[in-house]
Amino acid sequence: MEKLPAVEDAVESVLAANSTLPGALLPILHEVQETLGYIPPESVPRIAKALNLSRAEVHGVITYYQHFRQTPPGRHVVRVCCAEACQAVGGEALAEHARTRLEAGELSFEPVYCLGLCACGPAIQIDETSLHARVTPKSFDALIDALEAAR
Ligand code: FES
Repeated sequence: MEKLPAVEDAVESVLAANSTLPGALLPILHEVQETLGYIPPESVPRIAKALNLSRAEVHGVITYYQHFRQTPPGRHVVRVCCAEACQAVGGEALAEHARTRLEAGELSFEPVYCLGLCACGPAIQIDETSLHARVTPKSFDALIDALEAAR
């Protein structure tokens, strides 16, 4: 994995580029996560100060959006669709299975709300590009086994 820039430097650089934009909080949070892989809790006071917001306001936005991570991601990020169409065809059970399977590993579980494969759910996405449709717990395990074997 490529070395991540130091947290403080990365956050300062993102703030310098974005803090004067209107509605800067979300773009800043997105860019911090893009740069570091997550939004370190220690960056919240600095972001709040730069935007003249309270820490609670910044924390509230981070926790409101499922997209934002507060801990470093695993080697791979596995997104499981938890939206209605997928839930209607077994997505809920698949999400529970995935959450349990990925709990202690190097892979991160993330619920998402639609991957654009609604007609052939349950759907998952591994990292940014690998979409899978009609995933069952069994086929999920096969995909994860293959990822783990590829280390
Ligand atoms: S609802 Fe799951 S992909 Fe759209």
